[in-house]
Amino acid sequence: PRVLILGAPGAGKGTQSSKIASEFDVEHVTTGDALRANKEMDISEMDTEYDTPREYMDQGELVPDEVVNAIVDEALTQADGFVLDGYPRNPEQAEELEEMTDLDVVLSLDVGEEELVHRLTGRRLDPETGEIYHLEYNPPEDPEVEDRLEQREDDTEETVKERLRVYRENTEPVIDHYDEQGVLERVDGEQAPDEVWEDVKATIEDAA
Ligand code: AP5
Ligand code: ZN
Repeated sequence: PRVLILGAPGAGKGTQSSKIASEFDVEHVTTGDALRANKEMDISEMDTEYDTPREYMDQGELVPDEVVNAIVDEALTQADGFVLDGYPRNPEQAEELEEMTDLDVVLSLDVGEEELVHRLTGRRLDPETGEIYHLEYNPPEDPEVEDRLEQREDDTEETVKERLRVYRENTEPVIDHYDEQGVLERVDGEQAPDEVWEDVKATIEDAA
């Protein structure tokens, strides 16, 4: 299936996308991970305000559309089925996506703001496997993994606030747009990860 997963920063898009990718054997296309892997890429020729993606990401701002559209376009042409995570983030990107592909399922993970902040500030990543943990909700069992956990650079309280503001201003209108089209499937993202997964899985199975 071709799945789009929407939701605020910290809603659980990455967590659920990994499960979707392995359960349905599709590609996990994530602009956030792709940008983090290329954060020092020289984008100055694109006439952008800053010279690298990192400068936008560290402040919680959106990386220019031109850069992100190219990443997604290339990834989607190579993928048969996919779960798209982190894109589109504004109405212009949503229009681009419509040109690129059709979608079978559009999911939104709904989580309240207070919980989002708590999830983001407690998130830790395993740099070796890319696995997503949370100090409280989902700590690693292996002490060796625990020792090497890292915090994402944009998970500081100040940057989190800005990311949530950017989300409300730019991305919420995209969710409203799919909702008005009648294609949006809302999942309660405040449940425990396994319960969210049950709902996500069932929604995809029903739609695909
Ligand atoms: P991106 O990497 O996409 O970050 P984001 O949208 O802010 O989302 P997150 O990755 O922070 O959260 P998530 O929903 O994946 O949650 P997760 O599963 O990790 O983007 C980063 C930056 O890149 C942007 O700010 C921007 O600069 C740039 N960028 C990316 N895409 C772009 C685009 N299209 N255009 C322009 N710029 C772009 O979970 C979070 C935590 O909660 C974890 O600790 C996890 O263990 C825990 N958790 C998950 N589910 C549950 C649950 N059900 N219960 C309890 N805890 C849970
Ligand atoms: Zn993510």
